[in-house]
Formats: sequence, structure tokens, C-alpha cells
Amino acid sequence: MNGTPAIRPRVAVSRSELPGGGVARLASRYDVTVWEGAAPPTPAQLAELARDCEALLLIGSDRVGAELLDAAGPRLRVVALASMGYDSVDVAAASERGVVVTHTPDVLADTTADVAIALILMARRRLVDSMDAMRRGEWGSLPMNAFLGLDVHGATLGLIGYGQIARALARRAVGFGMRVQHHHPRRKEDDELSRWVPFEELLSTSDVVSVHTPLTPETVGMIGAAELARMKPTATLVNTARGGIVDEDALLSALRRGELHSAGLDVMVDEPRVDPADPLFAEPRLVVLPHVGSATVQTRAAMVELAARNIEAVLSGESAPTPLPGTAHRPGAR
Ligand code: DGY
Repeated sequence: MNGTPAIRPRVAVSRSELPGGGVARLASRYDVTVWEGAAPPTPAQLAELARDCEALLLIGSDRVGAELLDAAGPRLRVVALASMGYDSVDVAAASERGVVVTHTPDVLADTTADVAIALILMARRRLVDSMDAMRRGEWGSLPMNAFLGLDVHGATLGLIGYGQIARALARRAVGFGMRVQHHHPRRKEDDELSRWVPFEELLSTSDVVSVHTPLTPETVGMIGAAELARMKPTATLVNTARGGIVDEDALLSALRRGELHSAGLDVMVDEPRVDPADPLFAEPRLVVLPHVGSATVQTRAAMVELAARNIEAVLSGESAPTPLPGTAHRPGAR
């Protein structure tokens, strides 16, 4: 033994508030630097944080492109997202550099589906609107026909996409007495929960349309004026996936013109949106949440834990448990 301390791999973490024990465990094994700023790091700050690191632990809204990967430098082996969606990642740039990118499937589907069910109930039953009236002191003067919503039981739910979250929502919807149908470009089989239908048929025959597709160049603006026009005027649109899939201007005008009953969004195009004067926040038939689909104590901790396990695996020379489809996932690929 020559007494020289072993150099520990460097890991950067882009947020200080990550729940659970994952970050503390990483810190017990590696040289971990956590972004401590009051605001999220800018791209330049993130690049500085990442310099000479072997691993980055990021959240879904951190951009991972060539600049960040190059700023990190040639030691970088793994970028672990505490997020299932990975539209923020330039997958080709990571693959070209032999960097493994991982995400967090399997741990958040049920939690996010709970919020989708909540949005369906809140929008269709006008629950937020009626609570606002109560807060304004209007309860005593409300007539019998105030805040009449539309039934959820007996309604047909149309799922755009049929991955983990959509299927978790289908299970809940069946329990609520809904009929379920889905559209997916490749998974065309029916199962015990849902039957496959063509996209146009899904739009025109569903009482609730719920979006569960990733944001890709093909799905940007997938629900625009033409698609909203195909939907029933009594229908509800729900989006817990990514804001960019729905054209918000078209949605607002459909709601204002009474061409759509209601909508529930957990995601917005330019999130986070903080302007209280934003017309989308003022629309009574629209329920908007600040991207809380996976926001429970247990699930956010599980997401960070899985991201930490991905880092530990790659830095130990093992395969990452949950690599992104299409990225290098063999250790030492670089
Ligand atoms: C995800 O994991 O993709 C959720 O949207 C939370 O970011």
C-alpha cells in the first residue's frame, strides 16, 4: 500500500431537493457535487457543474445536448434522468459519444395515472369551478342546475398511446365503470382492458381523450384544431404526457366556442408557466396542474433511487437497469 487515496468518480446532481436516499448513497461512494442554487441551473451553470464528471443525475427538464455532453468531457459515462420522459435528451448526441442515458420507467405509472383520473373527475364534474364558487361565498345562492357536469361512469375513455401510464389509467377507468379504447401505431392488439381503434375513430367516439404518447417530432401538436374538431362537443381532453403534444391556442378556442366540454392538463407547452394573467388559467372549463403527475413522496424517492442505481451500475461496469431505448447500455462502450 502506498497510502495514496483512491480517486473517486465524480458525479454531479442538478437539484438539491431530490427526495429519498439515492443521492446520499451516491455521496457515500463517489465525489458528488450538488447544485445548491435557489433557482434551477442555467445551461451554462449545468455545463460548469458537469465538467470532468463520470456521471450526471438530472431531472426531466434539464436539457441534455451536445454542448452539455462536450462540456462534461470524455470521462462522462452515464447521464441518469430522474424522469420517465426523455424529450429533453439528444439521444443521438449521447450515443455518438458512447454515453449511457437512463430514465425511470416502472416506478411512476400508477402515481401518474392517479392524477389522470383526478383530472377526468375534476374537469368532467366541474369540481374546481364549483369549489371556486364556494370560496367566493356563492353556495347559498346556487340553483339546482349549477355546475352540472357530465357522468364519468358509462363514458368511453380513449387513450392515445398504450404504454405503462395508459394501461394504469385503463385499469382505474374500468373500476369507474368506463369503457376503454386505445390507439397506438404499433400495438394494435386488444386486451382485457381496452380495444384498439384507429386514431380518427378514437377522437370521434370517445367521451374522454387522454394523451399518453411521448413528445417526439411526430407528436408535436398532434392534438390541434382539426383533431379537436373531430371530438364530441361533450368530450373532455386530458394531458398528463407533455405539453407540446396539444396545441394550446386551438384548445382554448375550442373551449371558448363550446366545441369541447372541458380539459384537464398536468403539462403545458412552456412550463413552468407562472403568469396569473395567462388566459389558460382563467378558462373555467380547463383544469391546470403544475406537472404533479409523479409528485408523491414515495414515487419521487423511487425515481431518484432508480436514477442512482443506474449510475452505480454503469460506474461499476455493469449494465444500466433502465437505459433509454436506442442508447448505448453496455458498460465501457466509450
Ligand atoms: C416523467 O417522469 O416523465 C414525468 O413527466 C415527470 O417529469
